Amino acid sequence: MENNWSQRVAIITGGAAGLGLATAQRLATAGVKVALFDARSEALDKAKPQLPGEVSTHEVDVTDAASVGAAVAAVVQAWGHVDILINSAGITGQTNIKTHEIPMDDFSRVMAVNVHGLVHTFQAVAPAMLERGYGRVLNVASIAGKDGNAGMASYSASKAAVIGLTKSQGKEYAQSGLTINAIAPAVVRTEIVAAMPPEQVKYMTTKIPMGRCGTVEEFATLAMFIVSAENSFTTGFCYDLTGGRSVY
Ligand SMILES: NC(=O)c1ccc[n+]([C@@H]2O[C@H](COP(=O)([O-])OP(=O)(O)OC[C@H]3O[C@@H](n4cnc5c(N)ncnc54)[C@H](O)[C@@H]3O)[C@@H](O)[C@H]2O)c1
Repeated sequence: MENNWSQRVAIITGGAAGLGLATAQRLATAGVKVALFDARSEALDKAKPQLPGEVSTHEVDVTDAASVGAAVAAVVQAWGHVDILINSAGITGQTNIKTHEIPMDDFSRVMAVNVHGLVHTFQAVAPAMLERGYGRVLNVASIAGKDGNAGMASYSASKAAVIGLTKSQGKEYAQSGLTINAIAPAVVRTEIVAAMPPEQVKYMTTKIPMGRCGTVEEFATLAMFIVSAENSFTTGFCYDLTGGRSVY
């Protein structure tokens, strides 16, 4: 199947910064109409002029199903359909902390953003994708969800849930024209990493066999392939982006 980028519409959550924004830039440059969903309106305002072509921004908290539903409806009304959903919104919660010390409200917030958020966005876009028999969904997981990072139990549990969700969805929609895949990155120096304690970042980076962090460009390159129409026989899979840390 041809990629036909100029006829595609993409929604990217967490699209105002980091991995989501880098992927938005790549897609927009290829001619995709891009809708950025993010909780931070100022970051959205800064991101928009960085993208060429047709771009819309939507202040959305992915934990709020009504807010997600309204924004998806606005995209469908403006552009007619949604081909691509990239779930990049995510938080770490408190890190460098042991499980018995985790405040439960922090644990719940991590789950709400990193897991419930993905279900909210998928439930909002799925009917339109299923009706057209086409869709590419990419859930951003983490190496933490495969390996379990000490000091990051809530985050690791949430990203393991993302991988499990993706595997189930891949099978559920395998005959519908939709593919649902995930990426598990190791460390890429974005704002989410800058906000973490240096000891925690050191713990994660020293585990990377290539001896360096990944880049947003490397993430965007893989993401672009995963959501391409040509990538049509892989679903429910978690792609690796860890400089050799994860080989399974
Ligand atoms: N950078 C890394 O090293 C790394 C590694 C593995 C996985 N990840 C995952 O990649 C994804 C993107 O991270 P990033 O590095 O670009 O971080 P980032 O902090 O630069 O970007 C995340 C974006 O998500 C938005 N966001 C947070 N909560 C939200 C909510 N409730 N509703 C809507 N938007 C919300 C933020 O405002 C921010 O713009 C996250 O899911 C993260 O867990 C990142």
